[in-house]
Amino acid sequence: MSTTLGFDVYGTLIDTNGVVEALTGLVGEQAAAFSKAWRDKQLEYSFRRGLMRHYDSFAVCVRQALDYTCSAFRVPLDETQKALLLKTYRSLPPFEDAAAGLSLLQYGNFRMYAFSNGTAETVERLLEHAGLLHFFLGVISVDDIRSFKPDPAVYAHFLRKTGATGNSAWLISGNPFDLIGAMSTGLNSAWVRRSPDAVFDPWGIEPSLTVRELTELAREIPEFEKRKQALS
Ligand code: 2OP
Repeated sequence: MSTTLGFDVYGTLIDTNGVVEALTGLVGEQAAAFSKAWRDKQLEYSFRRGLMRHYDSFAVCVRQALDYTCSAFRVPLDETQKALLLKTYRSLPPFEDAAAGLSLLQYGNFRMYAFSNGTAETVERLLEHAGLLHFFLGVISVDDIRSFKPDPAVYAHFLRKTGATGNSAWLISGNPFDLIGAMSTGLNSAWVRRSPDAVFDPWGIEPSLTVRELTELAREIPEFEKRKQALS
């Protein structure tokens, strides 16, 4: 049976810090801190909406998190400036290793999907703009079931849509909360540790693999699966 790979999008294939340049023109030297606070707030809003069963799309989380961050940083951006930032967010750049990593994987025995909090339409446009869409058999969105990562239901949805079993499926992500969610639903997991300062949550659940770049996966996943088979 071929192995199914689900790639997280924001923070794994696509660099959310790609908005820092546009922010610099608006908030000056606070740009990097603003970008991080905005991203953290987007995720907090998605977690809270998931828990409260008060779903609205990830685009709404992004927009409301921008409004919040402007208030928190006391940066009174007008609607045109906010629209410019949101437009930039819809066309964020890929990480440098993304195309090379996916190219190496496409020659292996893998079925590759993008799997995101973003709606399928937003993610398709984002990946198309980044030149990555053609690597995937499809985009699977949490929007189908109106919840967010790390609700176990969204990983179950991924398995249902791809026809994979947890044992034969992997989540590839730069976000530890996403990996812990996937592992809790029985998937294998690869953490793309994009910074040496990144910390994995100490929940007593370790990722199956940790890599620095997506280019390592084409070698590391088959080796992991061979080791697993030898043990079974
Ligand atoms: C994604 O689902 C978690 O934001 C991340 O793409």
